[in-house]
Amino acid sequence: MIVCSCNVLTDAKIRDIVTGGMCPRTPGAVYKCLGCSPNCGRCIATLRTIISEALAETTPTGTLCLTNRELDEESLCPL
Ligand code: FES
Repeated sequence: MIVCSCNVLTDAKIRDIVTGGMCPRTPGAVYKCLGCSPNCGRCIATLRTIISEALAETTPTGTLCLTNRELDEESLCPL
């Protein structure tokens, strides 16, 4: 299902990036990892819900979780 129509982001794509090793924890960090940025912002609340659900399903052991600031500082985003 498309969650962000401005960037054509699906819930599956968001879950994949959140649980794929980098696990960005904010909508801004998700956008950064996916190489895009928010436009209208209508999807932010839905993104937060998907991020929370995905992180709750992810085992914290061995997972590197980064904040938006850490992503900026580390430039570790693989995308
Ligand atoms: S719907 Fe996501 S920024 Fe517009």
